[in-house]
Amino acid sequence: MGSDFASWCIYLSVLLALMSAQAGNARKITHRQLKEEGGSTNYLQQPSNTMDGHTHLLAHMDHMDPSLNIFFKIDDLKVGKTMPVYLPSKDLSASPHLLSREAANSIPFSSKQLPQLLEFFSFSKDSRQAKAMDYTLRQCELEPTKGEIRFCATSLESMLDFSRSVFGSDAHLKVLTTTVLKEPTVSLQNYTILDMPKQIPSSRIIACHTLPYPYAVFYCHSQKSETRLFQVSLGAENGDRAQASAVCHMDTSQWDHDHVSFRVLKIKPRSSPVCHFLPPDSLVWVPLPA
Ligand SMILES: *[C@@H]1O[C@H](CO)[C@@H](O)[C@H](O)[C@H]1NC(C)=O
Repeated sequence: MGSDFASWCIYLSVLLALMSAQAGNARKITHRQLKEEGGSTNYLQQPSNTMDGHTHLLAHMDHMDPSLNIFFKIDDLKVGKTMPVYLPSKDLSASPHLLSREAANSIPFSSKQLPQLLEFFSFSKDSRQAKAMDYTLRQCELEPTKGEIRFCATSLESMLDFSRSVFGSDAHLKVLTTTVLKEPTVSLQNYTILDMPKQIPSSRIIACHTLPYPYAVFYCHSQKSETRLFQVSLGAENGDRAQASAVCHMDTSQWDHDHVSFRVLKIKPRSSPVCHFLPPDSLVWVPLPA
């Protein structure tokens, strides 16, 4: 019973966090609710693969995509450190609706069925939305990289099931997000670390990133290699404040040489840990200590 209640607390907090509890008729989903393709989360979906489509950024680091300002070095995790961080305010009206498992399971989720899905959602074949759906379905069909477990969750229930399959069916789960304590007025600005970053002890974590789709789809993944999770208080000069979740990948030796983070941090590829802040629409699941 206790764990059921804990599960419900998690459900509720996630629901509140996402403010997207209006499960229901997927046909009502409008074009507007399908997020634009791209966004900061794309850099995090496949830490060990080449980021297809983003390699063009590498040649133009002078005009660096502002959303790449999420990477930092583990040595930067100390009180008083100031660094530019891209932290967009969460546009809740643009968040796609979260479906119940029943509703999500009633809709095919396969790139083979894209033509029928486009018809179902009334998107034309060449639309931006069609490209985004194709991108998301293909991301979700990629084979996991070595040492990685991945899963695309189309409902909270399936996200919880996946978490339990990784952490054990009796695990008590905790979910962390990056929360802004005051809506940022600018997306990219310098933030200073206000308190000693708090490490969340956990041998394994699952990170779930939103993918563009007509309803909420989370790409969840977990790596076997050592990952450290931190909660970091950030403050900007103009008063903007955030409690950010950050992940440090301690072993980057298997990552692609061209991984964008190496360029952003100006470090020798695969030589040292890479940390990054999570965007506000990502979730991190960890088991609570037994
Ligand atoms: C952050 O501060 C540095 C040093 O003062 C400055 O050069 C840089 O432009 C600032 N970055 C942003 C995004 O404001």
